[in-house]
Amino acid sequence: MSEMIRLSVFRYDPEKGGKPSMQAFEVPLLNSGMKLLDALNYIKWELDGSLTYRRSCGEGICGSDGLNINGVNGLACITPIVGLKQPIHVRPLPSMHVIRDLVVDMDHFFDQYRQIQPWLQTKTPVPEHERLQSPEDRARLDGSYECVLCGCCSTSCPSWWWNGDRFLGPAALLHANRWIVDSRDGATGERLDQVEDAFRLYRCHQIMNCMEACPKELNPTAAINHIKRKLLARKS
Ligand code: SF4
Ligand code: SF4
Ligand code: FES
Repeated sequence: MSEMIRLSVFRYDPEKGGKPSMQAFEVPLLNSGMKLLDALNYIKWELDGSLTYRRSCGEGICGSDGLNINGVNGLACITPIVGLKQPIHVRPLPSMHVIRDLVVDMDHFFDQYRQIQPWLQTKTPVPEHERLQSPEDRARLDGSYECVLCGCCSTSCPSWWWNGDRFLGPAALLHANRWIVDSRDGATGERLDQVEDAFRLYRCHQIMNCMEACPKELNPTAAINHIKRKLLARKS
């Protein structure tokens, strides 16, 4: 008989009313490389089809299955189940409005991402071919472009919990920095103007939860510090 894995999963269905609760499940350990997403899929497909959660790629690329796993944010599809303390507590991302079960409302998170205008802005004529970049300049985007917008960082940030309406949060600021350092972009000044604000940028108090939470091992704190240094440099 297979080894059984115990989980305690957050359940909430506003259409049915009632309070949120944790529901216990047991799933078989399917193989030694089993991920948490495999366990959630087993529950949905074999035990309780009403369990609701987001997922798509299963490979840590789409960013849709950010969850709070035993108190730590992460992507279910790349979190190995072996080694997790049991019962494994699976909850929605913290501080977010729950739509149902493990699905949270990401509208505000993506609205903040849109606010930093995450696209190339140029003031020079369109070249015949692509806009070229040296290998060194391209390397400066490492540590930013890998972000999958899962929200694990922002939803682990106390400053974002308390001031998320005005503080852009680590994910949006990581992307703001991604365009600020892009050698092809011509809107650096405007981008710095846009974030230079006591709340939008400076509500980051260097708590570094964001870095700890990122399942892609990115460092939003360093990106935020880089923006602050750029702002300081242009003042002097
Ligand atoms: S370093 Fe800044 S953005 Fe990251 S968790 Fe701390 S306050 Fe939030
Ligand atoms: S920086 Fe990391 S935790 Fe934050 S949204 Fe991007 S991939 Fe997710
Ligand atoms: S399912 Fe796409 S990142 Fe996990």
